[in-house]
Parts: sequence; structure tokens; C-alpha cells
Amino acid sequence: MNLRKIVIAIDGYSACGKSSTAKLVANILGYRYIDTGAMYRAVTLYFMEHHVAITNPKEVSRALQQINIAFVVNSKNVTETFLNGLNVEKTIRSMRVSERVSEISAIKEVRMAMVEQQRKMGKEKAVVMDGRDIGTVVFPQAELKLFMSADLLVRAFRRQKELLEKDRMIDLDDVITNIVQRDEIDTTRAESPLRKADDAILIDTTHVSLDEQVDEVVRLALAKMIINA
Ligand code: DC
Repeated sequence: MNLRKIVIAIDGYSACGKSSTAKLVANILGYRYIDTGAMYRAVTLYFMEHHVAITNPKEVSRALQQINIAFVVNSKNVTETFLNGLNVEKTIRSMRVSERVSEISAIKEVRMAMVEQQRKMGKEKAVVMDGRDIGTVVFPQAELKLFMSADLLVRAFRRQKELLEKDRMIDLDDVITNIVQRDEIDTTRAESPLRKADDAILIDTTHVSLDEQVDEVVRLALAKMIINA
């Protein structure tokens, strides 16, 4: 059967399973997975480490020119984020980066630079990209757009468990506060705020297991990939 290559755009709130779903779907379809949140996290880490004055657009633009972000697949077939040649996969998931990332990803110059790179990465299609503005701004022509959400408490439990699996014990209260703050900044910022594209399919993952989510997305993707479907 002839399958065409498509772009799968997955947007949604923080911690509702976008990246876990996107990774597995990409593996099943043999697509590239691009975690755009990791790119904003890497920029945030760089800005923090280099004390970039985020209210100064010239300084922000200069700093952005010094940043090289790459995704490298390791021996366990897990994609890791590299910032200027250094593996920052673990550091960018820390609470100190999570606490600053929404503020920094709201900066116009930061978004323009990241969107340009993301468009290049998805040019050849056959990608699953997750983030906040993929279906609305980065790839408004994506063949399949999904918008994921889930109840706040369920999201917080899942995120806490994920952090625990990485040996990080964070109070549920702190996880909830961070998710609420990020949702607030992500949905109300002036530059490409998080919103569901009109043609995106809404997926509520509150009562759905990861396996079920993945099956559903693969089914939707295949329906778009079958030529003339
Ligand atoms: O997906 P994540 O939680 O790792 O993303 C971290 C932050 O990056 C999120 O709070 C908002 C920002 N982000 C964004 O503004 N646009 C994207 N396409 C992806 C993430």
C-alpha cells in the first residue's frame, strides 16, 4: 500500500501526555519526533546560565545567535537534547528551568528563531511535532492536528510520577502550581498563545491510558496517510 508522508501536530496544555504519545506514535510510524518544548527549555537554560537580560531585545537576539540545539538519538533509541554540543536532556527538565520556560518562550525573538528551525526540521514531513503552536503557527497546513487536554489533578499526578521515575521527589503542590502558572502564561501571551486550531481534533486524556491514546493517534494518522483517503 502506498502511504504518503504527513506532518502530525500535537498541541495542548502542560503535562497532559503530549510528548509520551508523540514519541510512541513516531516510533510506530517510523517518523521523527520533535519535542519543541525541549527547544524552548534549552533556550531558557542558556539564558539563565548566561544571565541574558530578557527585556533587552538586542541582547536576546545576540544570545539566540549563540545557541545551537540538536536532537540526538542515543543507543537506547531515546532522543536527547543537546545545547551547543552538551547533553542537557536532564537539566532542561528540572524545576528551575520549568519555572522560567513559559516567561522566556513568550519572547517574540525567541519564538521567531524557534519557529524557523522547527519549519526546517519538518520540511521533509514524516514528523510528529509536539508543542503549543504547532497546528496554529508552525505548521498550519499539517495533515493531522491534535489538541490534548486532561484534568489538572490527573496531569499533576502523572508529571509527579514522571519526575519520581527520574529520582526527583517534588511536592504535588509545587507541581500543580507550576502547571497552572505555565498554562496561564502559555494561553494569555501576546505571541502565538496556546489555542486549539479550528481543525484540530480534541483528545481528552483524563480517563485514557497511554496505550489507548497512542492507538487512537496512529489510527487517525493512518487514515490521513493512505493516499486518497
Ligand atoms: O512541552 P513542555 O512542557 O516541555 O514545554 C515547555 C514550555 O515551552 C511551555 O510551558 C511553553 C513553551 N512552549 C511553547 O511556547 N511553544 C511550543 N511549541 C512548545 C513549548
